[in-house]
Amino acid sequence: MIDALGERKVRWVASNQAINAPLVGLDVRPGERIGAVTGTGDILFNLIVAGALVESADSDPEQTAYVRRKRENVVADDQESFLYEGITESKYSTQGQIRRRHSHFSDPNIWQRLRQNIGNLRDPELADIGDFLSTRNFDKAFLSNAPGWGYTGETESGMLNGRIDCNRIFDACAQSLPQGGLAYRVRFARQWFLGTTYENFESVPSLAQKAAVMEEKIGGMWIPEVYRRI
Ligand SMILES: C[S@@+](CC[C@H](N)C(=O)[O-])C[C@H]1O[C@@H](n2cnc3c(N)ncnc32)[C@H](O)[C@@H]1O
Repeated sequence: MIDALGERKVRWVASNQAINAPLVGLDVRPGERIGAVTGTGDILFNLIVAGALVESADSDPEQTAYVRRKRENVVADDQESFLYEGITESKYSTQGQIRRRHSHFSDPNIWQRLRQNIGNLRDPELADIGDFLSTRNFDKAFLSNAPGWGYTGETESGMLNGRIDCNRIFDACAQSLPQGGLAYRVRFARQWFLGTTYENFESVPSLAQKAAVMEEKIGGMWIPEVYRRI
């Protein structure tokens, strides 16, 4: 992300998704290979705590560098830096959710398992998740909210690209997974509009103001969806 001063900044520092839900949704077993979107890294770290072998990609260079730093903090057994890495950098740093989420990894047992298993997390790659999945085979996939995210941001064409992107990423995922393989993604929904995607509001200019009011006044949640390759 480029901020108002033209500086590049990491955008997402702590996951606000349900951190254990992918373990349940993907029925994660030790030794399974999971292809994942890097994002904040929190979900990746939790997948390896559960014993999975994780390879990840993100198209954002700041997110990739940020999660590399967090990975190095684990290797160096520097829990304090890991817990607060990047907190003041994020555009969401004033939101209380960030400290709560990081506290998941302050549990000594979870930190110890993270340390033990850190070799199971490959260095995150700078790549589009569709390209990444289509050239490798995994048992399962964690797609975060990448399907539907799009490249071009908050414009009408951005929304259209988001839809095309959704099909493209699911096609790549189907290529990567074996029959019966599971894929997990999330969609954001406002409490007022459960079932209606958040990006529909943000990306259409005529609805942008409504989206801004919703952003400020109304809580929302990430709705998990699990797909099985047939
Ligand atoms: C909202 S953020 C992730 C934060 C997330 N809630 C988490 O728990 O980590 C979505 C992430 O997906 C990445 N992303 C979106 N579309 C992508 C794509 N096609 N390929 C690779 N990364 C993508 C973004 O750069 C961003 O880091």
